Amino acid sequence: MKIMVVGGGGREHAVIKKLKENKSIEKIYALPGNGGIAADAECVPIGATDIDGIVKFAAENAIDFAVVTPDDPLVLGAVDALTAAGIKCFGPEKKAAIIEGSKVFSKNLMKKYGIPTARYEVFSDMGKALEYLDTAPIPTVIKADGLALGKGVIIAETREDAKNAVKSMMLDKIFGESGSNIVIEEFLTGPEVSVLSFTDGKTIVPMVSSMDHKRAKDNDEGLNTGGMGTVAPNPYYTKEVADECMKNIFLPTVKAMNEEGRTFKGCLYFGLMITPDGAKVIEYNCRFGDPETQVVLPLLKTDLFTVMNAVADGKLSEIDVEFKDENACCVIMASDGYPVKYEKGYEITADDSIDGEIFIAGAKKENGRLLTNGGRVLGVTCTAETLKEAVEKSYRAVEKIHFGNAYYRRDIGARALKAGK
Ligand code: AMP
Ligand code: GLY
Repeated sequence: MKIMVVGGGGREHAVIKKLKENKSIEKIYALPGNGGIAADAECVPIGATDIDGIVKFAAENAIDFAVVTPDDPLVLGAVDALTAAGIKCFGPEKKAAIIEGSKVFSKNLMKKYGIPTARYEVFSDMGKALEYLDTAPIPTVIKADGLALGKGVIIAETREDAKNAVKSMMLDKIFGESGSNIVIEEFLTGPEVSVLSFTDGKTIVPMVSSMDHKRAKDNDEGLNTGGMGTVAPNPYYTKEVADECMKNIFLPTVKAMNEEGRTFKGCLYFGLMITPDGAKVIEYNCRFGDPETQVVLPLLKTDLFTVMNAVADGKLSEIDVEFKDENACCVIMASDGYPVKYEKGYEITADDSIDGEIFIAGAKKENGRLLTNGGRVLGVTCTAETLKEAVEKSYRAVEKIHFGNAYYRRDIGARALKAGK
């Protein structure tokens, strides 16, 4: 069997390494992959948003199954185009990927179906948004409607900051057309939990919960990033919270999407906040999270391809999806200066004796050497019986990996360890 994975980051590397455990898979292509993924898959220089190129490659190379992981190709309709060409896929169709592609859509969906989320207003007129901010509760949260490389959310602590945020999105268009419509929503408080799930539109199976560390610096300071590390499971996601989420959030979301004629099949990601009033949805993603995937998949016991194939066939209820009763910690090693400005092109080396997995996110191969080529360079994941051991193992492994200008947070897992006590 030949599989194609669309994307080229740490998440895709984690997916590919897990798929490789299935011995019936003879070949995995990564489009475009990266210099590190090249050790585990054949990388093909076709961009993740080049839908025509992806479909052509799949048809010409008799691909049996395609996994589309990043948000942009999903929102652009990669799965629809591949399916139309007769290629079986894991991932939602365009009409379902809108759950991430449009915040206005997802907020309205939650309101219509009574799914708990922050109170909000939608604006397409800047004057009205600014007027609303004269009396809106502060702090407030301003969100661009469309995809904005994970940066379309501004938390404003003052009225002035809020108004500036609106102007930057609607007038200066810092997020392009994504900011033509905006959502202004209530600021919520509480610990955040990421829950990735498999769903075929009938059954939903939550994966082990995880905790992202989005800020660039220790103690959750500095700018928002794509994620500087993760741990799983998340100690704030207790059995009671999980039951509440299944009843009030997960099942109602699957049902709501069906009722809208937008059945979601693939990995549905719930970004949750456990507020004093219960769990609420901060955001939906139509895909695996990154770096959440780098801790969740190493804990998956069931064969990943079997699960993805069952999702594609609408037969998820027929299989058991099991996770190891262990803990995982992923520390992201980045280029210093990320997410703003950073240098690239340094050689990455590692001592042989690393007791964990390395997922490469931003690297290229040149003359046999692996060079840094991105902000987030790689993720180091270790698993262990306890979270404390997993965290310690990951940091021991990080010390054995070297590249110029390397930067990483020193406190991944610290909050979870405190909460778990
Ligand atoms: P997102 O890009 O949607 O993941 O949002 C980035 C981060 O902004 C989230 O992980 C939260 O920490 C924060 N955030 C988003 N919405 C809210 C909200 N309504 N209240 C408080 N924090 C929020
Ligand atoms: N780590 C958050 C995301 O993938 O959106």
